[in-house]
Amino acid sequence: MKTAVAIIGAGPSGLLLGHLLRQAGVDCLIVERQAADYVLGRVRAGVLETVTTGLMERLGLDDRLQREGLVEEGFNLATDDRLIRIDVKALTGKHVTVYGQTELTRDLMAAAESRGLQVIYEAKDLVLHDVDGDEPFLTYHKDGVEQRIEADFIAGCDGYHGPSRKAIPAPKLRDYELAYPFGWLGILADVPPCHPELIYANTERGFALASMRSETRSRYYIQVPLTDRVENWSEDKLWDELALRFDPLSEHGVTRGPAIEMSIAPLRSYVCETMRHGRLFLAGDSAHIVPPTGAKGLNLAASDVHYLADALIAFHATGDESGLTGFEARALARIWKAERFSWYLTKLMHRFPTDGSFEHKMQAAELDYVGSSETMQRSIAENYVGLPI
Ligand code: FAD
Ligand code: DHB
Repeated sequence: MKTAVAIIGAGPSGLLLGHLLRQAGVDCLIVERQAADYVLGRVRAGVLETVTTGLMERLGLDDRLQREGLVEEGFNLATDDRLIRIDVKALTGKHVTVYGQTELTRDLMAAAESRGLQVIYEAKDLVLHDVDGDEPFLTYHKDGVEQRIEADFIAGCDGYHGPSRKAIPAPKLRDYELAYPFGWLGILADVPPCHPELIYANTERGFALASMRSETRSRYYIQVPLTDRVENWSEDKLWDELALRFDPLSEHGVTRGPAIEMSIAPLRSYVCETMRHGRLFLAGDSAHIVPPTGAKGLNLAASDVHYLADALIAFHATGDESGLTGFEARALARIWKAERFSWYLTKLMHRFPTDGSFEHKMQAAELDYVGSSETMQRSIAENYVGLPI
């Protein structure tokens, strides 16, 4: 098989890129290791910036997003007994939209066939070949038979653990990493949210986030040690912990219900600055990870894809290579700022095991300052809604 752009991974990055290329008439296809249902079963992001909703609108795939997405005009930072509301709408004129990554992925998958976007699921043992030559290709196994796809370009949209980044030779790889000494334990349940807007809380008992997917579905997270396992947490124990942290802060108190999903995710900051190697381009989590505080991961994936799609479309239309040459610098300028914001909010809102009473006083003073300074609130709000692309 031969195509112009072979995309590895059918997460949000790969699906958005595939649709944008097909919409512009650029030949491409997506190769995904998992089955579609498995991809849809991963509960992840929930807060979309306008860069992400804007791409869905550009694709004409935003009907359900417009209907079912919740417009959030503000969110809250909290201590044990104080809510600091960040009035995003008043401070920036913009809002974010609560709409699950699962739903976004579902919309993109559902439209693939009718838009001529081929997605090959359950492609095993994928290997990238000759990415720094003129004729790169992929090999993989489908139903036990080896397949080969030749392409002009390869887009590595295969997440943090995928093979694309690993295909860049170590001497060429420029990367930066910071691991945090805790993870997030999340629960998804069909119960009404405890508060009309998200609450990020730095409490004596550790960080906690009250989020939602709809008016009847809640998503909560708490900070847990890296050694913790989901099996150590019964649903009751987690609801008790959430009630301790959110009952004093929220409008309705925490409503309990059976978990649809519970999982632990470690927190990491990571940037691979080598986002291009020959004919291979990286986009989304394959090139960078942010700690989830601030909800930047999916939205950064969308801005990478915006830059990469425009560069590939321009090249295919006119042979203009400037977008491809400039992709890495353009993407990294936005990535590093989102990394900074996610790192800042993580440091501000979590209890680090190595922190003592002085560091706690510093966090309290900073939150007090945020509470009293419109300038600080504006800075937080403009980063939260997403910096311009
Ligand atoms: P992925 O979603 O990881 O997709 C990569 C795809 O590549 C996968 O489908 C994978 O199966 C496939 N793949 C991997 N290896 C291979 C292979 N060998 N062959 C073929 N295919 C392969 N972000 C936000 O913006 N807002 C939030 O509120 C938010 N909350 C989050 C909460 C949690 C708990 C977590 C874990 C993440 C959160 N994120 C959030 C981050 C967000 O989910 C990711 O940034 C996003 O999924 C990145 O999309 P992607 O397509 O680049 O990568
Ligand atoms: C959610 C996740 C986040 O990381 C965040 O900052 C806000 C919301 C969520 O899953 O709803």
